[in-house]
Amino acid sequence: MSFIHPHLRLGVNIDHVATIRNARGGSHPDPVRAAILAVEAGADGITAHLREDRRHITDDDITRLIAEIERPLNLEMAATDEMQTIALRHRPHACCLVPERREERTTEGGLDVVSGYSHLAPYVARLRDAGIRVSLFIAPDTAQVETAARLGVPVVEFHTGPYCHAAGPGRADELARLARASSLAHGLGIECHAGHGLDYESVVDVAALPELAELNIGHFLIGEAIFIGLAESIRGMRAAMARGRNRPA
Ligand code: PXP
Repeated sequence: MSFIHPHLRLGVNIDHVATIRNARGGSHPDPVRAAILAVEAGADGITAHLREDRRHITDDDITRLIAEIERPLNLEMAATDEMQTIALRHRPHACCLVPERREERTTEGGLDVVSGYSHLAPYVARLRDAGIRVSLFIAPDTAQVETAARLGVPVVEFHTGPYCHAAGPGRADELARLARASSLAHGLGIECHAGHGLDYESVVDVAALPELAELNIGHFLIGEAIFIGLAESIRGMRAAMARGRNRPA
């Protein structure tokens, strides 16, 4: 294997702390407190998805995350005018463009950058010109990767949902698609991230893919934190990632 990304980063997605808070409409549990604890426990970055319906993270959470966390913030958002205005106001380290409506998605659930090319080209350029690192959340598919390269993004994040949900031989096929797409993207000079649906077991084979530089993980970590605490759930994930990354090829 010719290339191994030296450090596989873990971005902790804190959306589902906000989901629990929002179930009662108050301020507890606070996702910013979770972000601070996650950083203390070794998260390399924090990810949060500002949805159009504000189902989890709110605008105020974004303001506080930018002010209070000492690691890069990866703001996931739909490619809408409203979200662009918010991103340009806050200028997070990175913006990951994700689909919000069905017609923006591929069948695998990633952002369809092929059909969205003409909308995305000026959109990506505007964020890039503001100094924001743009990432596209795409399926591990050749046409999507090649179009991401034409869009000039520095990062793609591969949707691992279909891999995590697959059973039997289908899972190996999904892993092989992730491997091929990562190697293609890496060869095109794009940094590769991955995420969605990962847990202690599914993360191991994904972490073994040498071109991946970052995994963004939320739901499982927050769910596990209910039983063992957030720091411990993050430590467990780091250990599982290290098992995959350090496995002999
Ligand atoms: N990456 C992206 C782009 C996402 O939208 C999400 C949340 O769906 C995640 C990573 C984290 O996924 P999960 O919460 O399933 O770990």
